[in-house]
Amino acid sequence: IEVDPFDLVVFGATGDLAYRKLLPALYHRDLDGQLPEDARILACSRRDMSDAEYRARAAEAVREHVSDIEEPALSRFLERLSYLAVDASGERGWEDLAAALEDRPEVIRAFYLAVSPDFFGAICERIGRHGLASDTARIVIEKPIGKDGQSARALNAAIGAVFREDQIFRIDHYLGKETVQNLMALRFANALFEPLWNAAHIDHVQITVAEALGVEGRAGYYDTAGAMRDMLQNHILQLLCLVAMEPPESMDADSVRDEKLKVLKALRPMDPAMVERATVRGQYRAGASAGGAVPGYLEELDDPGSQTETFVALKAEIANWRWANVPFYLRTGKRLADRVSEIVVQFRPIPHSIFEEEAGPISSNRLVIRLQPDEGVRMQIMIKDPGPGGMRLRQVPLDMSFAEAFRVRNPDAYERLLMDVIRGNQTLFMRRDEVEAAWAWVDPILEAWAHLREPPKGYTSGTWGPSAAIALIERDGRTWFEDLI
Ligand code: BG6
Repeated sequence: IEVDPFDLVVFGATGDLAYRKLLPALYHRDLDGQLPEDARILACSRRDMSDAEYRARAAEAVREHVSDIEEPALSRFLERLSYLAVDASGERGWEDLAAALEDRPEVIRAFYLAVSPDFFGAICERIGRHGLASDTARIVIEKPIGKDGQSARALNAAIGAVFREDQIFRIDHYLGKETVQNLMALRFANALFEPLWNAAHIDHVQITVAEALGVEGRAGYYDTAGAMRDMLQNHILQLLCLVAMEPPESMDADSVRDEKLKVLKALRPMDPAMVERATVRGQYRAGASAGGAVPGYLEELDDPGSQTETFVALKAEIANWRWANVPFYLRTGKRLADRVSEIVVQFRPIPHSIFEEEAGPISSNRLVIRLQPDEGVRMQIMIKDPGPGGMRLRQVPLDMSFAEAFRVRNPDAYERLLMDVIRGNQTLFMRRDEVEAAWAWVDPILEAWAHLREPPKGYTSGTWGPSAAIALIERDGRTWFEDLI
């Protein structure tokens, strides 16, 4: 399905995000016939460059990130690109940008700010001042949206001074991942799960977003953020919201976001004593990853004094009727044993066993929603061990790998999200109050950490994080489920 004609203006068009994600995603959408004939992409950044030069770089980027390029489609895509030198926080280039857009003020106009948040305010102000914030305009921003509640509010206010909330698209690329959307399909397109989706039947939930990579040349940014701000405040809390929210009345953007907001507001605030008990910060040391030796975070950063966490694990609670006393164990980190993101929903034990002891132990059901790699859903159930040997029970997975079930390419999150921007569909984007509510829960944890001044616990690269993270869950008589993958 084609979208309406549009002009997409990308600030930071020579940056990593544009080359690695945006251009390949747009190429794919074009290849699939989703971009209308006259869709235009205006690439902007500070340096001087001709259209031809930019197209050559864009071609290189697309080739690098997309396998099986179709040459005619790539040429057609490149034709859509033009380049303008625009100084995001100066005056140069803005008149040119206005001139480039003025021939069709009625088409959808999207400004994608693929730049550091330091420039968001300046760019919005100039968009406003040059009269570019037309009624059809929308603005797309990426995290980090602030480094705490206060800076997030300031950023939101600067953007809100120029754009209405229904024009602002705050990307959390996890929401564009296929399996994350599948979580909603699973919960709300099946009768099976929803009646059991509560404290009466669910023992606890685990959300793991583990990365094998380190900070990869982003140490400058990362060291000011850490795992809490980089991953937990946004991606992981969004996943938690989708697992925990009440059924929205429709897929309408505000219905979904209202429900997510309620979950964020119901998160039990942590006081300093809880922070000490229920959170773990870690930092990777040298070790082995993907078969090779890797340096520790401090060596990579070249700053032996950094106390930034590259790992965080914590136990969150949602204080409402549905989830009372159901812990949500969350963890994320860099340089862990594997790249794997998954949500594990652990059901409670059966109330009574009718089987003899010889039948063996009965494991409680477990639903595993795997985001990456190998997207899929797996349900651990008990069956009778096949054969004439009497009633012996065995746990088996009811397994569905999406790659095996559907032999289609799994689109990148940005493909979906970029098209949603053009369609004006905000369901998979964060609303202002959601971002601020997430910070409101995270801020006291960050403050308590700053107050405690305890250095993060070291963990060897290529492991599952500091042993304190294992102790965190084992204290409750539970365990992380990485062995089941
Ligand atoms: C980004 C973080 O938002 O998400 C990165 O800033 C992280 O640090 C990345 O590596 C992970 O995304 P994905 O899609 O590879 O899981």
